[in-house]
Amino acid sequence: MAQLWGGRFTKETDRLAYRFNASIFFDRRFLREDIEGSKAHAAMLAKQGILTAEEKDRIVSGLSGILEDVEQGRLAVTEEYEDVHSFVEANLTARIGEAGKKLHTGRSRNDQVALDMRLYVRGQVKETDALLKELLQVLQELMEAHLETYMPGFTHLQKAQPVTLAHHLGAYFEMFRRDRQRMYDIYRRMNYCPLGAGALAGTTYPLDRDYTSSLLDFFGPTANSMDSVSDRDYVIEFLSALSLIMMHLSRFSEEIILWNSNEYHFVEIDDGYSTGSSIMPQKKNPDIAELVRGKTGRVYGALMSLLTTMKGIPLAYDKDMQEDKELTFDAIDTVKGCLALFAGMVRTLRFDKRVMEESAMKGFTNATDAADYLVGKGVPFRDAHRIIGELVLYCLEKGKSIEDCSIEELKKLSPFFEADLYEAISLKACVERRLTFGAPGKAAMEAVIARNREYLEEEWA
Ligand code: ARG
Repeated sequence: MAQLWGGRFTKETDRLAYRFNASIFFDRRFLREDIEGSKAHAAMLAKQGILTAEEKDRIVSGLSGILEDVEQGRLAVTEEYEDVHSFVEANLTARIGEAGKKLHTGRSRNDQVALDMRLYVRGQVKETDALLKELLQVLQELMEAHLETYMPGFTHLQKAQPVTLAHHLGAYFEMFRRDRQRMYDIYRRMNYCPLGAGALAGTTYPLDRDYTSSLLDFFGPTANSMDSVSDRDYVIEFLSALSLIMMHLSRFSEEIILWNSNEYHFVEIDDGYSTGSSIMPQKKNPDIAELVRGKTGRVYGALMSLLTTMKGIPLAYDKDMQEDKELTFDAIDTVKGCLALFAGMVRTLRFDKRVMEESAMKGFTNATDAADYLVGKGVPFRDAHRIIGELVLYCLEKGKSIEDCSIEELKKLSPFFEADLYEAISLKACVERRLTFGAPGKAAMEAVIARNREYLEEEWA
């Protein structure tokens, strides 16, 4: 057991209690951030005359040495240390001697861990954003390629009106674009530096918190030392945004699974993203999409867990807050893994345009357009709705579509039907007349696609 305290104690920690309390098993994940923060702290202490320039140089190069040795596999972050902070301090002192013991001047593990977690989450927010952007790029390419791939649009999972594949995928584009905006919002709100808050009440050393904060690329220092050491709002916001990403991926997965089913056959998932059955030779299963759908639960779980952990904690730091890490790390790994896989899976989907189009032609997806046709001939919409309803019933009895009816059959229901009806309710016409901004008509979609292209050239959301 290598602990940073002991003077006040006359007995060793119970073995089980030690393991229960230790966080080294998981906080070694942010070794890099811990070292980055310590370097900034040392530089600030030297600038303020609390350390000599020589001491600072020894500390900074000692810290670089530790990181390098761990990354090259020459040094292991072992479990004899309580946490990553103790590991770094003990190694530093072993390397550079007395100066190592001065690094923690004017700092507590409470503001140190608050900083490490913030630096780590900030990096992950940016990485998640980059993965979202990659997925958006895949969607954009597919949208450009499928402006005239017609398919049924559904409500209640029943065929409703025809749309295009570009338009359907465009709905997901909007979802993932909002997810990127959330990353940006979180970053804007969280990017303040808690270092210098001490254990909870600041410190008597003349620290320059603005300086530390600028060295670490923050907008500025946090404004209340008690809040600084106990704020985990940004982790909860991030988990909430990750949950929304999973919700979107899960809905998309569900559609891909449906579309890939024998009944729909709109798409075929590439072999690279499917698996077989150990008993049924004919099977090709959409396991990746199913797993993404399934993993949504554990990300929601992380969000609920941290919300619950935080809700009863009195100010300022309490050890409960150590629970902010493991499930958050798991959620981050899960979402990043799902996003990366999804981009590959979607890029390689094979869409069966013929099946999609045929499906759109069945199921009376042009019934609204047939009613609109009568309105164009002067029939009030409510009457037109009733006439087409009767026509659909007639067609269902005869087992055919509206466009299969002869003009004589149609005229029995309304004298306003003319030969130009057939063109007016063709699949292409139904879609291409929908030209309001945000609708599936080609010209309307092209306007959105042009906007998306500009958006994808920007750095952040
Ligand atoms: N391992 C702790 C955490 O993750 C670090 C802070 C420890 N502070 C303390 N007073 N014991 O929250």
